[in-house]
Amino acid sequence: MTNTDHVALTLASTSITGGVPSDDGNLSLSRKSLRRSWNQLPRCQRNLIIMGLTAFCFTALLFLPGDQLINIKDVHLKPGAAPFHIRRENTLQNPHHHPHSAQSKDGSSLINELPGDISAAVASPMTVGSHPIKAKPAIDKFDGTMDYPMETNSAENVVNLPETVHSLNENGNGLIDIVNNVEQTLEQQSSLALDEPSSIRDELEEAIRQPSKLANVDIKQHLLQMESQLAKAQHFHGATNERQAAVVAAFRHSWAGYKKYAWGHDNLKPVSQGSHEWFGLGLSIVDSLDTMYIMGLEDEFNEARDWVANSLHFHTNRDVNLFEVTIRVLGGLLSAYHLSGDRMFLVKASELGNRLLPSFLSPSGIPYSDVNLGERSAHSPKWSPDSSTSEVTTIQLEFRDLSRSTNVPIYERVVNVVNEKIHALDKSHGLVPIFINANTGTFRNYATISLGARGDSYYEYLLKQWLQTGRKDNDNLILDYMQAIDGVLTQLMRRTPREKWVYIGELINGHDFKPKMDHLTCYLPGTLLLGHQNGMPDSHLMLARDMMDTCYQTYIRQPTQLAAEISYFALNEKDENDIYVKPNDAHNLLRPEFIESLYYFYALTGNRTYQDMGWNIFQAFEKHSKVAAGYTSLGNVKNTLNTPMRDLMESFWMSETLKYFYLLFSDNRKEIDLDKWVFNSEGHPLPVYEN
Ligand SMILES: *[C@@H]1O[C@H](CO)[C@@H](O)[C@H](O)[C@H]1NC(C)=O
Repeated sequence: MTNTDHVALTLASTSITGGVPSDDGNLSLSRKSLRRSWNQLPRCQRNLIIMGLTAFCFTALLFLPGDQLINIKDVHLKPGAAPFHIRRENTLQNPHHHPHSAQSKDGSSLINELPGDISAAVASPMTVGSHPIKAKPAIDKFDGTMDYPMETNSAENVVNLPETVHSLNENGNGLIDIVNNVEQTLEQQSSLALDEPSSIRDELEEAIRQPSKLANVDIKQHLLQMESQLAKAQHFHGATNERQAAVVAAFRHSWAGYKKYAWGHDNLKPVSQGSHEWFGLGLSIVDSLDTMYIMGLEDEFNEARDWVANSLHFHTNRDVNLFEVTIRVLGGLLSAYHLSGDRMFLVKASELGNRLLPSFLSPSGIPYSDVNLGERSAHSPKWSPDSSTSEVTTIQLEFRDLSRSTNVPIYERVVNVVNEKIHALDKSHGLVPIFINANTGTFRNYATISLGARGDSYYEYLLKQWLQTGRKDNDNLILDYMQAIDGVLTQLMRRTPREKWVYIGELINGHDFKPKMDHLTCYLPGTLLLGHQNGMPDSHLMLARDMMDTCYQTYIRQPTQLAAEISYFALNEKDENDIYVKPNDAHNLLRPEFIESLYYFYALTGNRTYQDMGWNIFQAFEKHSKVAAGYTSLGNVKNTLNTPMRDLMESFWMSETLKYFYLLFSDNRKEIDLDKWVFNSEGHPLPVYEN
């Protein structure tokens, strides 16, 4: 992108948002240079700016004080007006918006050109301001070349949600939509600005002052008072076939090494036979509790339980990462509580929850990334003023569950505020930049858009929070999710030129496409399928299947049959290989995401092909990652002879990778019933609530 483009788009966004004039450098440009810049602009961008100014004037009219032209209160908010609200804003305000898309007459035809001209493919049918939204993205019509066998029974599983989307179709009047949107924005702001913050802040500070209390009484006493509402133990049978038994053996081998060389520390270093400390919270123990419970490993579970009861303390003066501790420790404790019915875990979870709360004492309510559990203070990471977007949006399942489990609302309230703030921010086709500032509550300009590191679980938790809270129609979470997946389909998805592998790339600076996909992104097929099972459009199913195939390739093509941390894809026929790995990206950290997706595919379809795919990968781990004291991360999956070792067994190996393998190989695909449980981002199942 050239400099002129940059200036133009910044101007456009500034003028449209009606930004504060004085401290914005762009507005203090002299008239002359403004005119010169104006004349240098391509016509399409000038149009964009004029469009923006018009919209600004119109918005300003709506906000006229006194006798307003339109009485906002009289206009009833149509259910589901939100998508228009979001989409319209994207078209006008998003500084990353690609000017061409405003000119595409029919976005659907562009999709057919994939994997052809990328700039054309960037255009999205969803963002054309005056176009009605299609109930299903154009990708459903996608492609004469690939065969998509449609599931005949998929309609059985469809909930009401798509109807909501249909009803949007009938509302084609842009004027009404804008008015609706204004009303919604006002409502949200007032509820946040007037009622919430002060009382939330009081409750917050109260909980932080007394970390061993809930609602002003001792945690144990509080739980005693709600005895009848506490969780009952769940029952599991243990391994029922050879593959499951092999996974249990792998778990025991890992656990034995950890116990011998790293007991009480965060992670095992299985090659050097030592320990690795990160937060000093015995991560591997807490993260493994529910896996052991599900596998029926009673002795191991009990020794871990005793360690948690006697040796897990949260008063150390040490910075920890809010997100990591939430998904691993808080999630691990809550899951252990719900599965075993042992309230000791809930006592621990409550104290930890209180000690994590200082993160939310930021000016914006978007949490700081780092929190000191002992001092009970929080701050941004040392290397940056920003938190990662996925981190601040991947704590909601756990905090909500803590509130529901203890009848103490504060945890859920603080993460709901985060939800609302993020929902209200401008996005690019529903996609979010990967950094957000906890002080200002805004995304970092020109940050990368990615479904890999720092972006991934934002999308995952939109869907999973909606599932956790009873799948309500017109929930912003699910509307944002649908919009985001549309954005993935139109902005990030590509096919390789020869072999037609579908992959999801990244937008560097928010707009320059890079054909790079983290292994982390391979969680997406499973999440998409889970969504489709709960009523999401068939385009999600097709993307899920295609991504499944591609992710499997990232494993099976490597000489070790293990995937690299990052894979690249050919943009055109000049690139030698359709899928390739750069030397610095060739490591494997025992990550779970693809096994997780295989598990969802098996659990939701019953198709045993996914078990066989998983078995191939399990054997590859056995062959290359297994060492005397456990399983190790690898330095290079392209090297079969003497594969270099990295000497770390992260806690997610026992928490997620082995748990998903075990459940994938189960004869009972509902060993964990996905209608009743929702897995957090670290593989810890939490109960689904009615609302
Ligand atoms: C099972 O899944 C595989 C891989 O996606 C597919 O090729 C096969 O047709 C499926 N089998 C059935 C019975 O649906």
